Amino acid sequence: MNVTFDFGRKNFVVVGASSGIGRQVALELSASGANVLAVGRNLERLDALRKSSPISLIKHPPRIFVEQLDVTMATADEWASVMENFTRCVGKINGGVYTAGIWGLTPLNAFDTELARKIFETSFWGAVNFIQATSRKRFADENSSFVVMSSVAGDYAGKSLFAYSAAKAAIQSAVKSFAAELARSKHRINSIAPALVQTEMLQRENISDEIISRQLLGLSSPFDVAGMILFLLSGRAARITGQNFFVDGGYVVGSFA
Ligand SMILES: NC(=O)c1ccc[n+]([C@@H]2O[C@H](COP(=O)([O-])OP(=O)(O)OC[C@H]3O[C@@H](n4cnc5c(N)ncnc54)[C@H](OP(=O)(O)O)[C@@H]3O)[C@@H](O)[C@H]2O)c1
Repeated sequence: MNVTFDFGRKNFVVVGASSGIGRQVALELSASGANVLAVGRNLERLDALRKSSPISLIKHPPRIFVEQLDVTMATADEWASVMENFTRCVGKINGGVYTAGIWGLTPLNAFDTELARKIFETSFWGAVNFIQATSRKRFADENSSFVVMSSVAGDYAGKSLFAYSAAKAAIQSAVKSFAAELARSKHRINSIAPALVQTEMLQRENISDEIISRQLLGLSSPFDVAGMILFLLSGRAARITGQNFFVDGGYVVGSFA
C-alpha cells in the first residue's frame, strides 16, 4: 500500500512561494495534483517556479499560476482581484499557506522602527489580510484549510528579537481566534513553528555553531517543514484547528539540555 497525499482537483494559494518553505510547498502541492496560485514579489522566481511544474500527459494537468504582490502594501481590493483571477480559472480554493516573512535583529536600546514595522507587517498583518481575503465564501470551498508561519521564536524570544518574536507569537494567538470564527464555514487554520531551516533567510544570517548545535536532529530542510504543512492541508487533519505545531528538529529540547 503506497499512501501519499492526493491533492488532485484541489486548489491552493501559497504566499511566499518564490523561495524557501513556500516554494517547496507550492512544488509539492503541484506534484500531488493541485492547482497552485504562487504569490510573492519576485516575478522572475515565480515564473521559474511556474515553468518547473511537472509535464503531464493527463487531460487537465495541474497548473501553477503566479501573481506578484507585496503583502505589506496589498489592499483588500488587490487581494480580492488576485483571488478573483485564480478562482475564475480553477474554481474555489481548498486552502492556503502563508509563508511570507522577513528576519531582522532589532535591539531594544536602538531599534530600527522601520525594520521592526516591516517585520510585523510581513509576518503578521500580511497573514491577517491573506486569511480575511481568501477565506471568504465567494473564494473558499467549505472545509478549506489554512496554514500560517510562526516560529519557535514566537515562544522563545532571544536577544534583539522582540519584533520578529512578537509577530510570530501574535500569529499563534490570531490563529486561535480565527479558528473559532472560521469553524462556521468548516474551515480550519493552524500555524507551524520551525526552528532553523536551510533557506535563504537562514543563509543571510550569521548563525553561530553553538546555536546550530542546539538543533539536536540537525538543520531542517524546506522539505521537512512542508511535510507538516501538507498534512494540515489534507483531509487527514480534518479535526485539527487552532493549533501551533513545532517542527523544530529538537531545537527546544536541545536549548535546555
Ligand atoms: N528559515 C528559517 O530558519 C525559519 C525558521 C522559523 C520560521 N521561519 C518562517 O518561515 C517563513 C518562510 O521563511 P523561509 O525560510 O522560507 O524564507 P525565505 O526563503 O527568505 O522566503 C521568504 C518568502 O517571503 C516572501 N516575502 C517576503 N516579504 C514579502 C512581501 N513584502 N510580500 C510578498 N512576499 C514576501 C519572499 O518572496 P519575495 O522575495 O518574492 O517577495 C519569499 O518567498 C517565514 O515566515 C519565516 O519567518 C523560517
